[in-house]
Amino acid sequence: MNALLLAGGLGTRLRPLTEQMPKPMALVANRPWLEHLVIHLKNQGIDHFVFAVKHYQELIRNHFGDGSRWGVSIRYALEPTLLGTAGAIKNAEDMLDERFIVVNADIVHEIQLLPLLEYHRQHGGLVTIGLTEVEDPTQYGVVEQDEHGRILRFVEKPRMEEAPSCKVNAGIYVMERQSLSYIPTNQAVSIERETFPLLIRETASVYGKVITGYWKDMGTKDRYRIIHWDILNRRFALPLSAQEKGQGIWVGDGCEIASGALLVPPVLIGNRVRIGERSIIGPYAVIGDDCLLGRNVRCSETIMWNRCKIGDAMHLNNCIFGNGLELGPSQILHGAVVNRMEVMRA
Ligand code: GTP
Repeated sequence: MNALLLAGGLGTRLRPLTEQMPKPMALVANRPWLEHLVIHLKNQGIDHFVFAVKHYQELIRNHFGDGSRWGVSIRYALEPTLLGTAGAIKNAEDMLDERFIVVNADIVHEIQLLPLLEYHRQHGGLVTIGLTEVEDPTQYGVVEQDEHGRILRFVEKPRMEEAPSCKVNAGIYVMERQSLSYIPTNQAVSIERETFPLLIRETASVYGKVITGYWKDMGTKDRYRIIHWDILNRRFALPLSAQEKGQGIWVGDGCEIASGALLVPPVLIGNRVRIGERSIIGPYAVIGDDCLLGRNVRCSETIMWNRCKIGDAMHLNNCIFGNGLELGPSQILHGAVVNRMEVMRA
C-alpha cells in the first residue's frame, strides 16, 4: 500500500512565506514539515510515496529526490495545471496501489494509521475518511454519520447550533482505487466539496473514523504559530533534532551563545546559531540553523527560518521570518511576517 501526499496547492493563506515555495515545505521546528511527515509515515511502515506536486515543485524534488536518503521510494505526479485535491489524486492514478492512503501534506499531526487501516478493512468501504474532533466546527466541513460510522452527509461551515457533530474531515483518507472512477480525468475537482458528496449521493460506501492525537492544519499564519507554541510546550511531541539543555531550552550543535545572553524557555535554537552579548531570546522563540543574532537583541514569540541575520538591539515580537532575512540594527518589529525569497534554498 502506498501513500499519496497532496503537496501542490498555492498556499495563499500562508503568504508571503509560500509565495515561492510549497506550503508543506514551510519549516516546522527548523525542518520542512514534509520531511517530518515522511519520517512519521515511514515509522508506521509506509515506504512508497507518491507526491502530487505543482506549485514550486522543483523545491520538493531537489530536497527529496528519489527518497533514498530517508530510506523510502518517492515518485512524483506533476499536474499540467492545478487540478484540485481530487483531480491531483486522479492524475496520479497509474502510480497508486489497489488500496492507498491520501494525506494533505499541510496537516501537522501525529496520527497513527493502523487503527484507520484496520477500520477500513473491517467496514469494507470504498473510502474511509479520518475524522478529527474540533471545538469550533463552524470553520470546517462537518460530517453526519449513521450508527455504523457510514457518512450520511457533509455540512460545510455550519452555524454552531446547526452542526450535526464536531467531527471534521482530517485530510487523511484510505481509498480503494475503484473510487477514482468517480473523478473525471484532467479536470479541477475538489475531493472535499465534490467527490465525497458525489460518492455519498451515489450511495457508495464512505465511512468516517475518528483519529486521535495532535492535529492542526498549518494553512494560516495564526495556526502556523500555534503549532510551534504547541511543540515548545510539548503539547505536540514532535521529535526535535536539538538537545534539551535545560527545561524547555533546546539547542542544536555548534552554537555560540555569548555568556551574557539569556535563553528564556520555551525556546528552540537550531544548529550553528550565534547569539551576541546581553541578548534575550524567548520565551516562545524558534531560531533556524545558521542564524546570527547580534548584541542586545530581544526576541519572543517569533519563528525565524535558516540563515537570518539580526542586527544589534533589534526588538522582535510575534514575527515570522523566511530564510536568509537580514534586519537591523535597532528596530522594533511586532507581528511582521517577512520573506526574502531570492536566497531561498530547499
Ligand atoms: P490555500 O491557498 O491557502 O487555501 O492553500 P492550498 O490550496 O495550498 O491548500 P489546501 O488547504 O486547500 O489543500 C490541502 C492540501 O492539498 C495542501 O497540502 C495542498 O498543497 C494540497 N493541494 C491543494 N490543491 C491542490 C492541487 O490542485 N494539486 C495538488 N497536487 N495539491 C493540492
